[in-house]
Amino acid sequence: MKRLTILALALWAAQAGAQGMSRGEYVARAGDCMACHTAADGAPLAGGLKFATPLGDIYSTNITPDKTHGIGGYSYDEFARAMREGVAKDGHHLYPAMPYPSYAKMSDDDLRALYDYLINEVTPQASANRESDIPWPLSMRWPLGLWNSLFVEDKPFTPRADKSAAWNRGAYLVQGPGHCGACHTPRAWACRRKPSTRATSSSLRAKPLTAGTRRRCAG
Ligand code: HEC
Ligand code: HEC
Repeated sequence: MKRLTILALALWAAQAGAQGMSRGEYVARAGDCMACHTAADGAPLAGGLKFATPLGDIYSTNITPDKTHGIGGYSYDEFARAMREGVAKDGHHLYPAMPYPSYAKMSDDDLRALYDYLINEVTPQASANRESDIPWPLSMRWPLGLWNSLFVEDKPFTPRADKSAAWNRGAYLVQGPGHCGACHTPRAWACRRKPSTRATSSSLRAKPLTAGTRRRCAG
C-alpha cells in the first residue's frame, strides 16, 4: 500500500513538473475549477457562472484570494470543509452544483497543494458574489445538510492493494478531482447518485446523462 502511494505521488510530480506548473495548479486543472468558477466574460476564478436548477438559478462563487469577495479569508481547514463537506466558511451549505461529493475523495496533500495555489498564485479579483434567484422557502439551505448526511460519502479515496499503481491513480482521478461521476452516474430520486459497487464500477458504465438530467440536478 505504502509503495503504491509513493509510486502514485512520483507519477503526479513528474506530470506536473513536466508541464512547468505547480502541483496545486495541476490539481486545479484536474478538478476543472476554472470551468465552473469563471463567467463567460469574467476574470479567471472570479465566479458568476450561472447554473440553472429546477428551483431557480444559482451562481458559482469567487474563489480568487480576494479577502472580501473571494476565499482570501479561508484557513486551510475551512477550505477543506468546503471541498469535502460542502460547507462554506460562514457555515452555510453549498448547493451540490459544486461537486464536493467527488472532491471529498481527494487526498489531504492534493487539497493542501490546491489551497496554496489558489491563495498564493491566483490574482485576487474584487467581484462580488451573486445571490441565487431561488425564491424562499426553497432557497433555505439547511435541508442540504440532511441531503449530505443521507447521500454523501465524504471518505477520501483508499487505494486497492490488489490493483496496480496506474489503476489506483486512474481511479483516484476519476472518482476524486475529475468528478466524472457528477455527470456520468445516473441520478435516483432527490438527485442522489445511484449506488454503485466498487467491484464493478457499474455507475460509470451508464450512458452519460442527458443535458436535461444535468439541468435538473445541476451538478
Ligand atoms: C460543476 C461546477 C463546479 C466545479 C467543477 C467546481 N465548483 Fe466550486 N462551486 C460551484 C458552485 C455553483 C458554487 C456555489 C454553490 C453555492 O452557492 O451554494 C461553488 C462553491 C465553491 C466554494 C465555496 C466558496 C465560497 O464562496 O464560500 C469553494 C471554496 C469552491 N467552490 C472551490 C472549488 C474548487 C477549488 C474547484 C476545483 C477543484 C471547484 N470549486 C470546482 C461549482 C463548481
Ligand atoms: C460537467 C459534466 C461532465 C463531467 C464532469 C464529465 N463528463 Fe464526460 N461527458 C459529459 C457529457 C454531457 C457527455 C456527452 C457529450 C455528448 O454526447 O456530446 C460526456 C461524454 C464523455 C465521453 C464520451 C462517451 C461516449 O459514449 O461517446 C467520455 C469518454 C467521457 N465523457 C469521459 C469523462 C471522464 C473520464 C470524466 C472525468 C475526468 C468526465 N467525462 C467528466 C459530461 C461530463
